[in-house]
Amino acid sequence: MKSEYPMNHFLDIHKTSAADLHGIIDQAKAMKQARQGRPKGMLDDELPLAGQMVALIFEKPSTRTRISFDVGVRQMGGQSMVLSGKDMQLGHGETIADTARVMSRYVDLIMIRTFDETVLTEMAEYATVPVINGLTDRTHPCQIMADIQTYEEHRGPIKGKKVVWAGDGNNVCASFLHAAAQFGFDLTFTGPAQLDPEEEFVGLARRAGSKVVIERDAVKAVAGADLVVADTWVSMHDSQSSKERRHNMLRPYQINDALMAHAKEDALFMHCLPAHREEEVTSSVMDGPQSVIFDEAENRLHAQKAIMRWCLGL
Ligand code: CP
Repeated sequence: MKSEYPMNHFLDIHKTSAADLHGIIDQAKAMKQARQGRPKGMLDDELPLAGQMVALIFEKPSTRTRISFDVGVRQMGGQSMVLSGKDMQLGHGETIADTARVMSRYVDLIMIRTFDETVLTEMAEYATVPVINGLTDRTHPCQIMADIQTYEEHRGPIKGKKVVWAGDGNNVCASFLHAAAQFGFDLTFTGPAQLDPEEEFVGLARRAGSKVVIERDAVKAVAGADLVVADTWVSMHDSQSSKERRHNMLRPYQINDALMAHAKEDALFMHCLPAHREEEVTSSVMDGPQSVIFDEAENRLHAQKAIMRWCLGL
């Protein structure tokens, strides 16, 4: 697959070749292995980001993305700056294009978490350094790279496996559909029709040969699953006034012990966090033997380190 950009932006999983995605996951696993048992602030043996300056822009709240990128840059010998979109001129009328061109004179790599996807794509169009998608209203590719790494560390290749997404067909679900196409797994979505994933994402996965099933009955959906995934019922871009309506629609899709009993015995449970315990998932599942949620969170660090190396060709 030829990129539409002259450099390695990491914008979405379907915009990066399958070979490169597998290479990133392999590197993430190797880098994680190489620093087992070390204090978090200790440098890696290899310092591919030495001399590199990385800007991390947040227009939305974050715990995992903010800390894991910042720590990852430092472990690889680079320097990072965490910027709040609202404190930049970006939040006060300066264009994305001008911001991208100016920032490219100061830094070697830009990660941005924003609302509208067009902010990300415009940043990528005008920046002369690589840009990474740290989440938009439509997709969250870094999360899913960490999730693939996590699944494979526990159960081997994800190719051919059945992944079940329960709840809202949101931005994280969209990136799972992109990954289904690139990594060759099947995805069943179970949730209310009002919250189906966008047809564009479903179509892309199907055209790539993945089996994508929409199943309203959560019990039928979860039958035979290798991996069950949930996410918050009200995302950062959803209005708080829709909360009660969404909760009422989504209650039948809560992941609890009774529902997990219909998945394969060795099925894993994932959630990108933050979670709302006893809403989309019970504590008994989150803290139970099938849950790998904290491995997922840790792997944000390792996967993103490999993504940054890929972006910079280092
Ligand atoms: N999963 C995730 O992206 O977490 P944060 O919003 O805390 O970065």
